Amino acid sequence: MSDHVLDISLIVNGERVREHVDARKTLVDFLREDLSLTGSHVGCEHGVCGACTVRVNGEIVRGCLMLAVQCDGAKVETIEGLSDSGEVADLQMAFEQRNALQCGYCTPGMLTTAQDLLTRAKNVPSREEIREYISGNYCRCTGYHAIIDAVESVAQARAKRKVKP
Ligand code: FES
Ligand code: FES
Repeated sequence: MSDHVLDISLIVNGERVREHVDARKTLVDFLREDLSLTGSHVGCEHGVCGACTVRVNGEIVRGCLMLAVQCDGAKVETIEGLSDSGEVADLQMAFEQRNALQCGYCTPGMLTTAQDLLTRAKNVPSREEIREYISGNYCRCTGYHAIIDAVESVAQARAKRKVKP
C-alpha cells in the first residue's frame, strides 16, 4: 500500500498544504478526511449531484471525480474559504432570507456554483440561465424556486452596485 502514497503540495483556501495521500483518494475525501474541511459534501460519488463542488485553479469541479494527487501544485478553494473571505456573503444571506436551504446538504455546492455563474455572467442572468447553470446541483428539499430567487436577487444587487459611481 505504501507505494501508492504520494506527496502532494497545494494551496487550500490560501494556505500551503503538504500531505502524503493515497493515490486513489478523491479530492473531496482528502479535503474532508485529511484537512477536516467538511463543508464539501459527498452525495452520489459519481459526478451527478454536485454536493462535492469545489474550485480548482478558478474552475468549479466535482471533488468526487478528481483525485487529490491531481491537485498537486493547484489552488483549491472550498466553501470554507469562500465563506471566510466574504466572497459569497451576499449569496449566503440571500439563501437564508429566501429559505433557499432546508437540510443544507446541497448548499455549499449550490453556493459555489452560483458564485461561479455570477462571476462569469456579463449581464444579470435570466431565471432560465440560473436554472440551467445550477442544473448539475441537486437539491432534494427546496424545489429550486427559492434557490433561483436567491441567486437572481444577488445578481440584481451586484449589478446595481456595479453601475454606482
Ligand atoms: S458527490 Fe460528487 S457529484 Fe455527487
Ligand atoms: S437543502 Fe436539502 S438537499 Fe438542498
